[in-house]
Amino acid sequence: MESAEIRRRWLRFFEERGHTVVPSASLVADDPTLLLVNAGMVPFKPYFLGEVKPQFSRATSVQKCVRTLDIEEVGKTTRHGSFFQMCGNFSFGDYFKEGAIKFAWELLTGSVADGGYGLDPEKLWITVYKDDDEAEQIWRDVIGVPSERIQRLGMKDNFWSMGVPGPCGPCSEINYDRGPAYGEEGGPAVNGERYLEIWNLVFMQYERGHGDGKDGFEILGDLPSKNIDTGLGLERLAAVLQDVDNLFEIDTSRMILDRAAELTGHTYGADHKSDVSLRVVTDHFRTALMLVGDGVTPGNEGRGYVLRRILRRAIRNMRLLGATGQVAKDLIDISIKAMAPQYPELETDRKRIETVVVAEENAFLQTLRSGTNLLDAAVTETKAGGGVVLSGEQAFKLHDTYGFPIDLTLEMAEEQGLQVDEAGFRRLMQEQRDRAKADAKA
Ligand code: SER
Repeated sequence: MESAEIRRRWLRFFEERGHTVVPSASLVADDPTLLLVNAGMVPFKPYFLGEVKPQFSRATSVQKCVRTLDIEEVGKTTRHGSFFQMCGNFSFGDYFKEGAIKFAWELLTGSVADGGYGLDPEKLWITVYKDDDEAEQIWRDVIGVPSERIQRLGMKDNFWSMGVPGPCGPCSEINYDRGPAYGEEGGPAVNGERYLEIWNLVFMQYERGHGDGKDGFEILGDLPSKNIDTGLGLERLAAVLQDVDNLFEIDTSRMILDRAAELTGHTYGADHKSDVSLRVVTDHFRTALMLVGDGVTPGNEGRGYVLRRILRRAIRNMRLLGATGQVAKDLIDISIKAMAPQYPELETDRKRIETVVVAEENAFLQTLRSGTNLLDAAVTETKAGGGVVLSGEQAFKLHDTYGFPIDLTLEMAEEQGLQVDEAGFRRLMQEQRDRAKADAKA
């Protein structure tokens, strides 16, 4: 089933069940606590908190999302992508756990002829929050999932928040067993590659305060009403329904990957290292396209830095694959071809997008030319002295004189078997900032 069809079925299913279809918001979050929209619920946050009264009690959307926290993992695992589309259904004080669970089961396991996705119920495994007896009972007694395919997990896995103060709640995830070729059995509690999480149902009922990580925060109290926020990864479901190994091989990604392979003379699937690079290029060009499409331009801070880093990682991976000339226009054009059927504005905005991306490529190639020589010299010097750590001074010079981002220095040093004194680098950066402040004051 094509990605576009997965989206159509999603929206139709929930619209027929009383949900208002809400178009995707821009990736540039209208929320001071976030740089970029990273979940389908972000545009609805004021409704969950009771700050604004929604005009509907049920909504559905397919939201553009970017997550860059796991960027180093992109391409290495089958699950991480920096851009993805989150299909969601939302209830604002309307249905709660039972309603959400029933909808999810019906849509996933309903036959293709009846508008469902036709998944085999026997391949679905459920996780619930460790104390959530009610959710487990609904899955077991109302839906009929056998107890051995329902697992309880803690805060880190089955309690969802935005990572910052806001709405939160226990969640229940639906995972698809991709079979023994993907590893040991034992359910999602032991193997996230084999038992791929496809849909997260969040029972949004609390407000969280400040704190760290996925479990180091305080619960401030109940939200004004009990709500539902669900998120199904469109690309993950597409991988399952198209029977491909990972996110980078589904219909909307594959043409970008093939173009990158063609430009560099590689055959996808021939060796692991090149495959990882091809996946990074695929993921990052698509993300860059969607960011530039929503008005982000490369820069040294905030969203601009996210975009710059992604674009530069993509271009560098093309060079690791052997590309010597410019590749950005070619790859952004194929990315537009892949995404424009769903986002026609990308086609009308093509000229502007190409200009932004090509200018960044030029700037980066210039940086690479001058910085790589210096980095190579620093690596040789360190190794000659028997060292395994590139000094903070060397990393700082690369940054300060040649505009080499620290992430790039870290990656390139690692490729040569060296570490970098990152703490030393950060100290020098801080000293430089302090000097600039003192100068400004004077
Ligand atoms: N907000 C939840 C998530 O991002 C479910 O939509 O996973």
